[in-house]
Amino acid sequence: MQTGKPMLRVLSGESVWPPPAWLMRQAGRYLPEYRELRAQAGDFIALCTNPALAAEVTLQPLRRYGFDAAILFSDILMVPWALGQPLRFAEGEGPLLEPIRDAVAVAKLDPTVVAARAAPIMETVSRLRGALDRDFPSTALIGFAGSPFTVACYMVDGRGGGEFPATRLLAHRDPVLFAQLIAVLEASTVAYLEAQVDAGAEILQLFDSWAGVLPPDGFARWVVEPTARIVAALRASRPHVPIIGFPRMSGASLPAYAVRTGVQGVSMDTSMDPAWAAGAVPASIAVQGNLDPLAVVAGGAALEAGTRRVLQALRGRPAIFNLGHGIVPQTPPDHVARLMEIVRADGK
Ligand code: CP3
Repeated sequence: MQTGKPMLRVLSGESVWPPPAWLMRQAGRYLPEYRELRAQAGDFIALCTNPALAAEVTLQPLRRYGFDAAILFSDILMVPWALGQPLRFAEGEGPLLEPIRDAVAVAKLDPTVVAARAAPIMETVSRLRGALDRDFPSTALIGFAGSPFTVACYMVDGRGGGEFPATRLLAHRDPVLFAQLIAVLEASTVAYLEAQVDAGAEILQLFDSWAGVLPPDGFARWVVEPTARIVAALRASRPHVPIIGFPRMSGASLPAYAVRTGVQGVSMDTSMDPAWAAGAVPASIAVQGNLDPLAVVAGGAALEAGTRRVLQALRGRPAIFNLGHGIVPQTPPDHVARLMEIVRADGK
C-alpha cells in the first residue's frame, strides 16, 4: 500500500483508483451554511479577507462530502484588489472593476505591495492547514490564482461577460502595453502563490477561465508563455509543490499547453472528450475533470451516466475527478452527495 494524500500521489505521476475528487467552487451559494455565513459577513471581499470566516467556508463542503482537496476560499480578483485596483462585487452583476486601459493606469500597478495586502488571505491558508492536519489528514490544501490573461480580462474590460472585447482589442492594438500588464500580473502571481505555499498550501491551481477567447498566436503568447514562466519560477523557488493548470476552452491545444507550461496536472473543461484528453496528454501529467456542472443540477440519469462516463475515461492513468467548470448555485446538495457515492464506489 502506498501512503500519502491521494491528490499528491496522483500529481507525482501515480495512478490512484478510485481517483481523488474535489469540485471547482465547492464552497459557495449552493450550500445553505455558506449563504448564512455570507449574509453575516456583509460583502464578498470582507468575507475573503476575514481569516476565521474564510477558513470556515472552505471547510463547510469537506464536512458534508469528505473531498480529497480543500480549495482556499478566496477569488482570482483578489490579486487586482491587492494591486490597488478598485473592485466590488455587485449583487446579481458579478465583479465590477475600474477599467485599466492606458499606460498611466498600468504604471500605477505595483506588484511589490501584493504580498502585504494579501496577508489576511495567507492567515486563512495557515489556519486551514492546521485544521486539515487535525481533522482531515488525507485532504490536500489547494492554493490558487487566476492566470495573467484571465485576470487581465477583468482588469481591462472591468467586468465579466465572456467576450472581453476591450482586452482583446488592447492585445492587438498595443501588444507592448498589454505585455507590461501581463508582466505585472506574472510577478504578482508568483509572489502571491509563493506566499500561499509558505503559509501551507500543498498544491497550486492556475485558473485560465477565458484562455479560449484568443486566436492561436494570442493563446501561445498570452496564455502558454506567461504560464510557463510562472510555473518555472515556482518550480525553482518551491520545487515540492505541484501545479494544476486550467486553460478553459483550449480544445485541441490542451496537450501542448500541458507539455509546454510544465504543469503537473491539467484540468479539462466541460466540452472536452475526457477519453481523448486522457490519451493525448502525456501519462506523466495528471488530467482533472470534467463532469458538466449542469448534470449535477439535473441529478438522476444525467448525473449517473455522466459521472460514469468521466470515470471510465480516467481509469488507468493519473487522474482527478472534478467538474468541467465551477458548481452552480442552483445545485441541490443531495446531488453532490450522490455524485461522491458513485465516484467512491468506483463508478458502480
Ligand atoms: O472553489 C472554491 O470553492 C474557492 C473559491 C473560489 C471563488 N472564485 C469564490 C467565489 C474560486 C477558486 C474562484 C475562482 C474564480 N473567480 C474564477 C475562476 C474559475 C471560474 O469560475 O471560471 C473566476 C473567473 C472568478 C471571478 C468571479 N468571482 C466571478 C465572475 C464572480 C461572479 C459570479 C459568481 O459566481 O457569483 C465571482 C464571485 C464569487 N467567487 C463567488 C464565490 C463563492 C460568489 C460571491 C457571493 O457569494 O456572492
